[in-house]
Amino acid sequence: MKNYTLITGASSGLGYEFCKLFAKDGNNLVLVARRKELLDKYASELSAKYGISVRVIAKDLSLEKSPDEIFNTLRTENIKLSALINNAGFGYKGSFEEIRLDIDMDMIKVNMLCLVKMTKLFLNDIIESNDGGILNVASTAAFQPGPFMAVYFATKAFVLSFSESLAEELSKTDVIVSTLCPGPTKTEFQGRANMNEAVEKTHFLFVNGYNIT
Ligand SMILES: NC(=O)c1ccc[n+]([C@@H]2O[C@H](COP(=O)([O-])OP(=O)(O)OC[C@H]3O[C@@H](n4cnc5c(N)ncnc54)[C@H](OP(=O)(O)O)[C@@H]3O)[C@@H](O)[C@H]2O)c1
Repeated sequence: MKNYTLITGASSGLGYEFCKLFAKDGNNLVLVARRKELLDKYASELSAKYGISVRVIAKDLSLEKSPDEIFNTLRTENIKLSALINNAGFGYKGSFEEIRLDIDMDMIKVNMLCLVKMTKLFLNDIIESNDGGILNVASTAAFQPGPFMAVYFATKAFVLSFSESLAEELSKTDVIVSTLCPGPTKTEFQGRANMNEAVEKTHFLFVNGYNIT
């Protein structure tokens, strides 16, 4: 069995920055997101540049079955994880009253449910690898309520709380559980989050993704 690092949300932003860093350190990678063409492109580039193995699995992580399908695919191919980066996520700006219910539900599914399920499914692999780790991407949004992004802020508070508890539970193992809490970062996040207008007024607050990772 070969050990791999799995990165969700690998097709852009912070996820892609993580891919480059982990590839540079010689880790084999599993890249997960919906846009397969982008993932295939990055996989070819990273394997050619760093001589690593890269497996692409295109999945919609808002679907409850996706984590199980990823787990079963990797089992079939004899691929085990030593590290898991739960990075995929999105937000949406607007009043709670006005944001469509399906957007809020998908946000909860991707940002929280998928993250918990991926962690549960792959935890044994990571413990057995003896030098493994889990990195969950939260946000500075985790530290306070966020009117007009109420559900997004709440999902990130969940990620931070869950990760801190898990880190304590696993403190007697070799597994390190970390939580990344970035502030405003230039990625595709703002465009998808209905935030372009707000970004124009606060552009000086934003840093580049590679500065965060
Ligand atoms: N940018 C910021 O200011 C900021 C600040 C704090 C925290 N964060 C957090 O950082 C993480 C990464 O975001 P980013 O800033 O890098 O944004 P981004 O550029 O929009 O990247 C988000 C990634 O998540 C994937 N994703 C979204 N929905 C998905 C779904 N249903 N199924 C599978 N993959 C999905 C996207 O891939 P596909 O579209 O190809 O599926 C993409 O690869 C998120 O958890 C975000 O909440 C961002």
